[in-house]
Amino acid sequence: MSAATAVAPVLEGRDLTKYFWVKQGRGPLARRVPIHAVERVSVRLDAGKVTAIVGESGAGKTTVARMLAKIIRPDAGQLLLDGRPAPGGRPRSYAAQVQMILQDPFASLNPVHRVRHHLIRPLEIHHMAHGNVDAAVADLLRRVALEPPDNFTGKFPHELSGGQRQRVAIARALAVRPRVLIADEPVSMLDVSIRLGVLNLLADLRDREHLAILYITHDIASARYLADTIIVMYAGKLVEAAPSVSLTDNPAHPYTQLLLSAAPDPDRVQTPALSARGAPPSLLALPSGCRFHPRCPHVMDVCRRQVPPSIAISSGHTAACWLHVDPAQRQASENGLLATATAQGPANHADAGSGSLGKDSKKR
Ligand SMILES: Nc1ncnc2c1ncn2[C@@H]1O[C@H](COP(=O)(O)OP(=O)(O)O)[C@@H](O)[C@H]1O
Ligand code: SF4
Ligand SMILES: [Mg+2]
Repeated sequence: MSAATAVAPVLEGRDLTKYFWVKQGRGPLARRVPIHAVERVSVRLDAGKVTAIVGESGAGKTTVARMLAKIIRPDAGQLLLDGRPAPGGRPRSYAAQVQMILQDPFASLNPVHRVRHHLIRPLEIHHMAHGNVDAAVADLLRRVALEPPDNFTGKFPHELSGGQRQRVAIARALAVRPRVLIADEPVSMLDVSIRLGVLNLLADLRDREHLAILYITHDIASARYLADTIIVMYAGKLVEAAPSVSLTDNPAHPYTQLLLSAAPDPDRVQTPALSARGAPPSLLALPSGCRFHPRCPHVMDVCRRQVPPSIAISSGHTAACWLHVDPAQRQASENGLLATATAQGPANHADAGSGSLGKDSKKR
């Protein structure tokens, strides 16, 4: 086995991009316009690790998850399974390897069926029971700490607590022996008192079963608790990515700093609300340059004009922000842009590419 094969993530999305086209206006004036849901977002999911995607509602988190699960097709970008291009379409073998857990466990379980039924179906469809269905169901329930299993197999979803329902949804996902678990806001609809239990279950599955887990959340505090790596998304873009500790101890992007400042903290009497610093933009009318610039306390001229490049802050830590570009380079970029704008007339730079300037770019 080559070194490259040894370190290949189980699942990787490179430069994933998705636009949803919607109708705007009426009658003869109606036209189809793109919602820039996700643009050039890369994410890697490694065995035995939790990667979190954090961002406010509408940031594009679920769209990334659905692309990774092949529920929707990216408009651009690449999906790699074990370092090789993922198969076309959504073959059953892919669906079995990459399982998704949704936000609302009540909606994802059929109210007229008992727990046993929910677990037997995937076992049978994917031929996983090996002749002993009851033992396989009991094993699944034990793996999600619903014990003793006999207390749960005959129950209907409404007879379970929210946390127990989410555990059944996780058990159902585990039935097909996935290698990747995509958990889209799995605790946001649960009572605060039982959230920790479900997060600890995900941590257990990572450690005991070596699953590659994508944990999607709007709550950066829970990402810090659970994840090994955190990716921060804002208005369809990846703005910062780093090992969890590095990102939360030394956030480099002003948006990550804002999220952290609004996270609940037992040492603070009052936590400032995120909304106090405005709201994310409409994805139909994005701000030019850096999409965060209307809310950013550090905004500069260049931010309004040009998309910030992705900068390497430290090992495995990147941020897309002009603050981390050497001032001379920043000025050169702006001069180049102004020269181009003068020669070609005004341009919309909202969608200009964002190359990586790398390590030689310094903090101002
Ligand atoms: N099927 C769809 N059709 C049209 N717009 C969509 C669709 N799915 C998502 N969107 C839009 O894409 C943007 C990103 O959505 P989503 O990925 O669900 O964000 P998040 O999960 O971060 O809240 C939102 O503006 C949302 O309204
Ligand atoms: S690029 Fe500019 S506006 Fe955007 S986050 Fe950085 S400093 Fe703020
Ligand atoms: Mg979502």
